Amino acid sequence: MKAIVNQEDYENRIKKILITEEEIAERIREAGKWIDSLYDGRPILLVSILKGAFVFMADLCRAVSVPCEIGFMCAKSYYEGTCSTGVVNITMDLDRDVTGYHLVIVEDIIDTGRTLNDIITLLKTRDPLSLSVVTLLDKPSRRLVDFKADLSLFTIPDLFVIGYGLDCAELYRNLPYIAEYAEE
Ligand code: IMP
Ligand code: MG
Repeated sequence: MKAIVNQEDYENRIKKILITEEEIAERIREAGKWIDSLYDGRPILLVSILKGAFVFMADLCRAVSVPCEIGFMCAKSYYEGTCSTGVVNITMDLDRDVTGYHLVIVEDIIDTGRTLNDIITLLKTRDPLSLSVVTLLDKPSRRLVDFKADLSLFTIPDLFVIGYGLDCAELYRNLPYIAEYAEE
């Protein structure tokens, strides 16, 4: 991948807006209502997987009305070929014990499904009261492990996307919309 050298180059690689700010905001309002009705007044712990989900987390947490705490974790998974080993390396863990919490995992995108599958396997060993997964984006055509979120806000085709938290080589996370990235 060629490095981005200037503003023009940076902007030229934003190929096409796929999901606008308004469309994201509308779906997040609906997701907040979905969470409220699912938990029905019970307190929850929203857990965001860094870094990609930080923007989504910031908006989603403000769309829920049930009592809600937030937590962050950062993880990397290791694979042999296309097979998940189930070994997930937590580079930054949650700052509390999740026993007794209803966990809602907040993810940016589910692609092969391996990272999230490993994180969930790990979190379940810690005995939360319950666990559900909300993802902003889903690329089901790329799945390598059988994994389905409880709520997916947008299903997208097999394209590399940037913006609203998602990066390409750490750039574009601050775009307010989701766009297709122009590969060379
Ligand atoms: P997987 O589901 O284990 O394959 O990993 C998903 C992770 O890969 C996401 O959390 C993203 O960080 C990254 N990823 C997958 N597809 C994209 C994309 O289209 N744009 C940016 N990051 C992506
Ligand atoms: Mg991610």
